[in-house]
Amino acid sequence: MGRGRSCRYYRLLDYQIRRCYVLIGGVNMSFTLKPAIKDNFIDREPLLDEMITTLTNRKIDMGFALIGPRRVGKTSILREITHRLANRKDVVVVYFCLWDLVENNLREFSRQLIKTLLVGFRGRISVKYKLKRLLQVPVETIYEFLKATGISLRILDEIEIELRRKDRPLDANMLVERIFALTEELGREYRVRVILIIDEFPSLIDLTNGKKLGEGVIRKIRTVHETLENTVLCISGSIRKTMEIVALSSSSAFYRQFIIKRIEPFDELLSGQLLEKNLKRRITSSAIEAAYNLTKGIPFYLQLLGRQLERTDVEPINKEVIERVFEEILTEEGDIIFSEEFYRLSDRERATLRAMAGMEKSKLNEISRRLEEGANVVSKYLAYLIIKGMVRKEERGVYKIADPVFSSWLKEKFR
Ligand SMILES: Nc1ncnc2c1ncn2[C@@H]1O[C@H](COP(=O)(O)OP(=O)(O)OP(=O)(O)O)[C@@H](O)[C@H]1O
Ligand SMILES: [Mg+2]
Repeated sequence: MGRGRSCRYYRLLDYQIRRCYVLIGGVNMSFTLKPAIKDNFIDREPLLDEMITTLTNRKIDMGFALIGPRRVGKTSILREITHRLANRKDVVVVYFCLWDLVENNLREFSRQLIKTLLVGFRGRISVKYKLKRLLQVPVETIYEFLKATGISLRILDEIEIELRRKDRPLDANMLVERIFALTEELGREYRVRVILIIDEFPSLIDLTNGKKLGEGVIRKIRTVHETLENTVLCISGSIRKTMEIVALSSSSAFYRQFIIKRIEPFDELLSGQLLEKNLKRRITSSAIEAAYNLTKGIPFYLQLLGRQLERTDVEPINKEVIERVFEEILTEEGDIIFSEEFYRLSDRERATLRAMAGMEKSKLNEISRRLEEGANVVSKYLAYLIIKGMVRKEERGVYKIADPVFSSWLKEKFR
């Protein structure tokens, strides 16, 4: 058998094996729009190694702040870390996402965070208490249970009393202190380091407690953070400007308190890897190049493209197929993905984005000419859009829509 043929033979065999795995559900190899973990997770290995080594080293008391554009894979990294550390005896990883809250208020946040913390410890707290069942009941019952075990009695009492109050807004500072004290105490009790991951951390500012909590809550966490011995905090956030307020700029509360990691989209090679790994058909290199150019390597859009490609049966997948499928995505799914964010903006902000749609970069004068408004006024709209993470300033007087696929959708929708 010639080399070419044997290669093809093994590729075919490999393909058949992967297909079997998919059919019997042995390995989950297909595109996903959920955070990618385990077999779905690709690359980022040096970052994961660094994070795991640092976070499990008791001598280092710095956590990480992940910052990156929307849909780039921050949650996947945090969830993959949680998964990889799940069986370690010396750490308990608690992953909590502000965007998973049903009610956006301090009471709900405190309850859910404590619940998640307790779930993190469930394997260590004696199984005879059937904690899993307990976690489906109101949080007060969990306190009763924990009190019965003698853990952190005083702290839980204090939290419980505060959370039951309805006559005034909750004491945010006290709750923050007590929740971290509970984390510390559980860590001490079970001789573990608690890695507390808070995804979409800047959204803490928007939690309500009578009115919005604002930056005060971040400053409070910062003060508590400095005293922690058994807990290390990791945070992430997508909107650059809010992360800057929280952690990056020299005037921010957490300045120099985290190891900051900027999460970038995949390059062309990795974009190809993501597609090839999950596709059950061949894909040409010009198709991969087209996929990369259209998605700019943002994993969410690559997954979306892959999912849509699975509905076709052309082989090999070529550039034309990619372009056609991408168009389909924009018309069929674009509204679902982008409408909510887009229509939440003010009329003028929307008009500004429309004036910029589909352009690689836009000059201020050009936008202002299209909108028929003065450059000063347009700069203001652009400033709001930057705060909301939708626009980036490239250089003086030059702006860009942050998300390339959003930009294509706008162009398609309003052409
Ligand atoms: N390392 C990866 N390997 C494969 N797919 C990935 C990877 N990282 C992210 N993805 C995919 O990209 C999409 C977005 O991932 P994820 O939710 O982790 O991003 P995010 O930055 O947290 O997004 P958001 O800004 O919406 O919170 C998901 O479909 C996920 O499966
Ligand atoms: Mg996320």
